[in-house]
Amino acid sequence: MSIRITNAFWGITLMAILSACSTTPEKTKADHKHEQAKNKIEKAICVVHPTEGNDVSGTIEFEKTTDGVKVTANVKGLTPGKHGFHVHQYGDCSGPAGKTAGGHFNPGHKKHGAPDDMERHVGDLGNLVADSSGVASMTFTDEKLTLNGPHTIVGRSIIVHAGEDDLTSQPTGAAGPRVACGVIGVAK
Ligand code: CU
Ligand code: ZN
Repeated sequence: MSIRITNAFWGITLMAILSACSTTPEKTKADHKHEQAKNKIEKAICVVHPTEGNDVSGTIEFEKTTDGVKVTANVKGLTPGKHGFHVHQYGDCSGPAGKTAGGHFNPGHKKHGAPDDMERHVGDLGNLVADSSGVASMTFTDEKLTLNGPHTIVGRSIIVHAGEDDLTSQPTGAAGPRVACGVIGVAK
């Protein structure tokens, strides 16, 4: 009895699978392209945490736009003034001083520069500017950042530095110690 029920069950299941297959229209190239577009990352976020002995924290949000990637930074616990911040090569903030994040993200093997320089690391975002209470809030759009493809910044990190990025010293901008680190992840 139980064997017959099992057979009937599998028979119905098989019929269901077959009919599902036969009614699924073949995917067109346009469908495929549409699906690829849908799977593209539109937004990303980096929550930065203080490195050992520091008190700097905040968020840097990224949003894909037609002009590039819109960056919205809100960071607190800084000393007033300029602080270099960059996308660094590795999404690894495990080291106490943030060194595990590696150097500036530089897939094109370029020199360090300012965000609006032709020659710059992809990760060169310039400086955050903190007010007298140590808070930096900034929004700008960057043409070199991308959230998709082989040079995506997703899975890399953001480092905030103790000092100012002079935008010329090689290869780091001489921005000093790393006071906060976070990994860039996909956002809703
Ligand atoms: Cu840096
Ligand atoms: Zn750089």
